[in-house]
Formats: sequence, structure tokens, C-alpha cells
Amino acid sequence: MKFLIFAFFGGVHLLSLCSGKAICKNGISKRTFEEIKEEIASCGDVAKAIINLAVYGKAQNRSYERLALLVDTVGPRLSGSKNLEKAIQIMYQNLQQDGLEKVHLEPVRIPHWERGEESAVMLEPRIHKIAILGLGSSIGTPPEGITAEVLVVTSFDELQRRASEARGKIVVYNQPYINYSRTVQYRTQGAVEAAKVGALASLIRSVASFSIYRLYWSVDIWTAGMLGRVPWMMAVEPLYHGKHSHLLKILGCVQRGLCGWCSGLQKNKVNISNYSLVMESDAGTFLPTGLQFTGSEKARAIMEEVMSLLQPLNITQVLSHGEGTDINFWIQAGVPGASLLDDLYKYFFFHHSHGDTMTVMDPKQMNVAAAVWAVVSYVVADMEEMLPRS
Ligand SMILES: *[C@@H]1O[C@H](CO)[C@@H](O)[C@H](O)[C@H]1NC(C)=O
Ligand SMILES: *[C@@H]1O[C@H](CO)[C@@H](O)[C@H](O)[C@H]1NC(C)=O
Ligand SMILES: *[C@@H]1O[C@H](CO)[C@@H](O)[C@H](O)[C@H]1NC(C)=O
Ligand SMILES: *[C@@H]1O[C@H](CO)[C@@H](O)[C@H](O)[C@H]1NC(C)=O
Ligand SMILES: *[C@@H]1O[C@H](CO)[C@@H](O)[C@H](O)[C@H]1NC(C)=O
Repeated sequence: MKFLIFAFFGGVHLLSLCSGKAICKNGISKRTFEEIKEEIASCGDVAKAIINLAVYGKAQNRSYERLALLVDTVGPRLSGSKNLEKAIQIMYQNLQQDGLEKVHLEPVRIPHWERGEESAVMLEPRIHKIAILGLGSSIGTPPEGITAEVLVVTSFDELQRRASEARGKIVVYNQPYINYSRTVQYRTQGAVEAAKVGALASLIRSVASFSIYRLYWSVDIWTAGMLGRVPWMMAVEPLYHGKHSHLLKILGCVQRGLCGWCSGLQKNKVNISNYSLVMESDAGTFLPTGLQFTGSEKARAIMEEVMSLLQPLNITQVLSHGEGTDINFWIQAGVPGASLLDDLYKYFFFHHSHGDTMTVMDPKQMNVAAAVWAVVSYVVADMEEMLPRS
């Protein structure tokens, strides 16, 4: 459930453009905030048209349907996989059919990890199959698997206290769920800590606020470094800032926070001065409540005006912390960044689990998320000047 810049622009070409007055641009702002405000306000009709298109009109359910097509026909799309390549081809065709210009793909190199067969069975006190999901980048077991006694701990502290008992065992972390940022350390560090005290392998309870039946699995040290290197990733589309040009760059990286890495590789080809805004919806596409934003105070004030165009949907909040795993590289380099703020009530029930299926998604909520993304990206791209940086 991680979509990066999931905005669709179908139909946008039919719309009239905002009526901002042309002002010569040379990188230095010539405009007062009042003028910018006026320019954004002039996009009210465009914003309404986009909202109508996405939520009530011809594009209703389009993001849901396209995602369903990917999920039904392609399946899981881990970085570097054949499935991802198929998905990229589908998106590529979709964008071309939508009439976007200069649609093209760019090859990049990324770490590549494949999920093999995976299973776990409790042998004593009775035979019991355990639902597991390998953490991406886990090292596989030997072909015969690993059979060992289990040491269950609820925290790293407990593991330290009982370090002498851990040697040769499978450490199972039964950590309570506090919140994602706190509890995810068992996913990222659990195997390393278990290896340090001589354990053979580790399992973690899923990092979920609610879970009916699942565990995560990780053998030895969680590392992205030791994997086969395979070209690919990223369907990338133009364009830069400028009136009448709309940027839609889709980074297909997702999953293991690798996009910073991908972007790093891309940086020699991409002039970040040309990007007005990077956006990510790392936390799903449920019912949006606003936008999280990171950028200069001037840029924030402008984003507040842009979001006011979403008044018809009552989604106008601009909060802090626009960072997202896959856009942080850009933000650190000075590009303003925005993340979709949506209803997270159910998000961590399904996050990174086999339970993450289309049944979790609601077409009506996705329509609203698509409208928010489309209005923001359209208006920001169409403004005379780029968002001011710090
Ligand atoms: C969109 O999905 C909703 C909910 O499933 C459904 O009621 C509606 O008819 C769909 N609209 C279109 C145009 O398919
Ligand atoms: C997560 O929980 C920890 C410990 O209670 C707390 O310090 C931290 O602020 C929480 N983080 C979030 C994002 O709520
Ligand atoms: C960035 O924009 C400038 C000015 O519009 C243009 O000359 C340059 O080619 C662009 N850079 C890239 C990498 O596209
Ligand atoms: C990057 O783009 C900026 C603004 O468009 C331009 O001034 C600068 O010369 C460009 N740098 C490179 C290396 O292309
Ligand atoms: C509009 O959104 C705000 C903040 O999200 C909420 O408190 C308010 O109840 C909403 N108003 C309506 C009419 O839905």
C-alpha cells in the first residue's frame, strides 16, 4: 500500500487553464504574495473541474480500477522483479493512452531480492503451521531449513538480559505494538541484535496495530547490501516547472526505502532546481484529511492557498512533516515535499502483509485522494513561479 505520486491527469487537457498573468521569470520572485494568492484563486474553476472529474465524473474509480488491474493481473511488484516490469509497462501504456506528452522509461540500477518458498512450523509441543512473511532482503535458510529451540523475548532489553540463553536458538520477538516508528525497530534491527548474541535466526511479531494471523521472518542480518544487482526500476515521466507543463514523475521504487538510493543514482541526470514539488503517499490512499508539507514558510503559505481550492471536498489542512521514505532525498536536497495525510485507522492492520489486498481499498476514498493529488500537482505546476525554497 504504497503509491508514490499516484495522480492521474486524464481529462486535464480539456480544462481551461488558470488565468494567472504572465510575469517574466528569472529564478527570483517578482511577485507579491497577494499576486500569487490571486493567481491561485484564479484556478478555482480548474480545481472544481478536476474534483468533479475524479470524484463524480468520467474518471470516477479510475485509480481503483487501475490498481485492481495491476493487483489482479500482475500481483506483488517487488523492486527489480519481472512483475514490476510488467506493471511499469501497464502504467506506461496508461499514461500514453491518457495523452501525456513525452512519456518514457528510464533504466536505473537497484538492489534486487526475490522471495523464495517460505514456511515455518512449530514442532513442539505440537505440530503447528505458522503464517510468515519474509522481510525483504532476508538471507535464505539452508535448503534443509533451520530447526532450533525458540527464545521468546518482548524487547531488546530482555534479549540483552537473556543473551546467554540465545546462542544457537531462534529468537522470537513478541514485542508489543506501540506505534510504527517505535516498533519498526524490531523489523530493522531484530535480526542484527539476535545475531550479536549468537542466535541462528529471528522471527518478529508483525509490526501491526492489529493482526489476525501473521509473523515476520528474518534470517541472520537484514541487509540490502548483499543482493544481486539488477537493472531496472522507475517509470519516469517529464516535465519541469513551467506554465502549461505538468510534471508527473512516477518513482516505482517503494518497499525498502530505496528510492533515496535510486534518486541518488539519478541525480546526475536530473536537475533538482527544475522540480517545484515532490509528493508521496507512503501511508496509503484512504480518505484524505489534508497535506503534510515540508518547505520554506513562504512555500507553506502558498500551499495553504493551493489547498484552499479543495474546499469543495473540505480537505484544506496543511500540516508539517511532508517527508516520506521515497522523497526524502529530494527534500534534503531542498525540493519542497508533500505527503498525503489520510485516515490511518486501518493502515497498520495490513501494512506489508498478505492481508494487503484490493479488499482493503475503497474506490470512493481513492477518488478523493486522486482529486487532492491532481489539484495540487496541477496548480503547482501551472503557477508562474516555482515554490520558493529556503
Ligand atoms: C464507483 O464505485 C462505486 C462503489 O463501488 C460504485 O457505486 C459506482 O457505481 C462506481 N462508479 C463507476 C462509474 O463505475
Ligand atoms: C511513538 O512512541 C514513542 C514511545 O512512547 C514516543 O516517544 C514517540 O513520540 C511516538 N511516536 C509517534 C510518531 O507517535
Ligand atoms: C532545467 O531547466 C533549465 C532551464 O529551463 C534547462 O535549461 C535545463 O536543461 C533543465 N535541466 C534538466 C536536467 O532538465
Ligand atoms: C539547473 O536548472 C537551473 C534552473 O532552471 C539552472 O539555472 C541551472 O543552470 C541548471 N543547472 C544545470 C547543471 O543544468
Ligand atoms: C471539515 O474538515 C474538518 C477538519 O478535517 C472537520 O473538523 C469538519 O468536521 C469537516 N466539516 C464537514 C462539514 O465535514
